[in-house]
Amino acid sequence: MPTLLHIDASLWPEDVSTSRSVTATFRREWEAQHPGGTVIHRDLAAEPLPHLDARAYTAGAGDLLRDALATELEQADAIVAGAPMYNYTIPSTLKAWLDHIIILGRTAGELPSAAGTPTVVVASRGGGYGPGTPRESFEFVTTYLEKTLGDTLGLDVEFIIPELTMAPHVPAMADLIDMSHASRHKAHEDAAARAKILAAKAA
Ligand SMILES: Cc1cc2nc3c(=O)[nH]c(=O)nc-3n(C[C@H](O)[C@H](O)[C@H](O)COP(=O)(O)O)c2cc1C
Repeated sequence: MPTLLHIDASLWPEDVSTSRSVTATFRREWEAQHPGGTVIHRDLAAEPLPHLDARAYTAGAGDLLRDALATELEQADAIVAGAPMYNYTIPSTLKAWLDHIIILGRTAGELPSAAGTPTVVVASRGGGYGPGTPRESFEFVTTYLEKTLGDTLGLDVEFIIPELTMAPHVPAMADLIDMSHASRHKAHEDAAARAKILAAKAA
């Protein structure tokens, strides 16, 4: 039976967090097609990983935690990951996960062990950073994850981007509330649609 690796990193619970609610939509659709399948949930906010230290780095795949995390990655038929924007980049908890799982000679290098795994990243953000916007050059979430998840680990990465999530809470963004709601609605639709397609492929 297929395995989904579900990663969340938002510091907020699902009823507040946009990325968690969208990864949950993806997961629900996946589970509807694979009720007997396996879902591995890594909640990096609830159970943060330690920072990589010299011992674990030197041990590489010989380190128990790194081996376990790499095995989770390799077992996955698909991955859905929440990557909220914190200070223009990914949460440090997600960076800690990356530092553990990028293991040269196993998950990275000439033959990355999880290469080709379909990976949907929900890159939620409070503002707008799309092409042509004034803050475009401040965007280090998708640009960074394209390189690490895509180029380094060889995963087949795509992004779903609910943005302007702060509009309902910031008076100066009041004009953007409709766009914020539309972006969130589309993110849920896209997540459900991608989950259906990827679950069917994994059957
Ligand atoms: C510590 C922190 C830093 C943030 N930094 C940014 C930022 O640099 N740019 C931005 O657009 N939004 C920023 N935000 C807002 C979040 O990106 C926004 O709330 C988004 O919806 C987070 O995803 P979530 O709803 O899944 O938690 C920040 C939020 C927090 C908690």
